[in-house]
Amino acid sequence: MAEGTDATKAADAEPLRTRLWIGGAWCDARAGGTFESTNPATGKTLAEVAEAGPEDVDCAVEAARTAFADDRWRRMDPQERSRLLWKLSELVESHADELARLETRDNGKPYFEARRVDLPSVVRTLRYYAGLADKVQGDVIPVQGPFLNYALREPLGVVGAIIPWNFPLSMAAWKVAPALACGNTVVLKPAEQTPLTALRFGELAAQAGFPAGVLNVVPGFGETAGAALVRHAGVDAISFTGSTAVGRRVMREASATLKPVSLELGGKSPNVVFADADLKQAVRGASMGVFYGKGEVCAAGSRILVEDSVHDDFVAGLAARAKQMPAGDPMDPKTRLGAVVSEAQLDRVMGYIEAGRREGARLEAGGDRVTVNGQGNFVNATVFSGVEPAMSIAREEIFGPVAAVIPFRDVDDAIAKANDSCYGLAAGVWTRDVGKAHRMAAAIDAGTVWVNTYNQYAPASPFGGCKESGFGRDLGFRTALEKYTRVKSVWVALDG
Ligand code: NAI
Ligand code: MG
Repeated sequence: MAEGTDATKAADAEPLRTRLWIGGAWCDARAGGTFESTNPATGKTLAEVAEAGPEDVDCAVEAARTAFADDRWRRMDPQERSRLLWKLSELVESHADELARLETRDNGKPYFEARRVDLPSVVRTLRYYAGLADKVQGDVIPVQGPFLNYALREPLGVVGAIIPWNFPLSMAAWKVAPALACGNTVVLKPAEQTPLTALRFGELAAQAGFPAGVLNVVPGFGETAGAALVRHAGVDAISFTGSTAVGRRVMREASATLKPVSLELGGKSPNVVFADADLKQAVRGASMGVFYGKGEVCAAGSRILVEDSVHDDFVAGLAARAKQMPAGDPMDPKTRLGAVVSEAQLDRVMGYIEAGRREGARLEAGGDRVTVNGQGNFVNATVFSGVEPAMSIAREEIFGPVAAVIPFRDVDDAIAKANDSCYGLAAGVWTRDVGKAHRMAAAIDAGTVWVNTYNQYAPASPFGGCKESGFGRDLGFRTALEKYTRVKSVWVALDG
């Protein structure tokens, strides 16, 4: 793997070496910097990654601008754009084992999840937006006077996509597929912890036949490469997923060039269990809701609100499930709890577990840092009960497998507690009462509400948040059109 990122050719003993993907070719970072991406399950270096600096971002934006202006992209038959996206979906599908392995080794997530959930979702997303490419259409608008007025829907130009480390390839697809379908070109900055699958994705896009420069991939750090992308006058919009703190900076920095931003940020999503729910299902759903993806999920149902009368049974059930899912080698197909993405993230998670203990919550399961085969960054699935809404484990995003269980009295108390958060990303409701389910769905401040299920996603269903979880939506049909195109109103005099 001298050039690309083909993980099939490398064992952990032999770190990969990657370069930047700009203008349809591999190139070195101008300043010659590199950084390491580690395999969090082993602590070993997985790759020496060429580090994009501001000058490389300039180069990538230039390539994307040139590609945007080029008739081969701008005047491409929309059905051809559609075919390219579909072709890319087929390449991702035929390389799914390799990509899932690479994702698992870079991120620490179970191979089971990468292969069975992330990869199929990437394929579906590409196919969904392949279907959008030839449906980007405007309107004819009735106006006073002898005029024809119509609205053209045009691509924005160069889209800067900045993505996090929890679902590296899925997040790339969520942003790249709709942006390209609408006729934009993209500069993608993956997270420094997990840059590898995005690089391979860029290479596969070229193989699918996308013209050079339509998709560029520049791994680097947030404060250098990410910030340069946000500030760049040649970037027309920023689509960001990451922490609320960085989201605020992105919005501030983007104001200098007045580029639109969409921000999909953190959460502390409530998962509300009523006494009339199927308790076994609710326990299983809540467990999956908070422990899936090691809890490194922006929509993780990390505040579990449980009606008083079933509280103790629920806690016993959740603690039992937590104890049944030990952390394991992510490559083992039976593993359901993988390695925490980085040492720094593990320290954050352990800090919150410590805070929960100190603030007086009851530890019902987990709480320990562990190793697997004597190595790696792992923490047990952790359950706290007796959590007060004012505790930090009830208010702050932990981004780890840590559940905070909070009791409630009735529907009004459940709504008040669910909305007692600066975040508003997602929520779950467990009840057999259909009326109550819909009342809760309407009352909770969230971009997504799941009823008697959790963590469902589909490319057709818009995803994003409110309050400090950000604004703008990924996915969806109309939402994608609105996000990645702009409207131009054209007036034509009919009496001239
Ligand atoms: P982060 O927000 O720093 O990283 C996300 C992306 O933003 C990365 O690509 C990073 O390089 C980039 N970035 C960082 N600083 C930037 C800047 N000044 N300008 C432009 N781009 C920048 O997230 P981090 O530090 O890795 O994780 C910290 C916490 O953030 C987590 O513990 C979790 O609570 C939250 N988080 C939430 C995510 C979500 O999906 N909503 C994803 C990742 C983290
Ligand atoms: Mg890594």
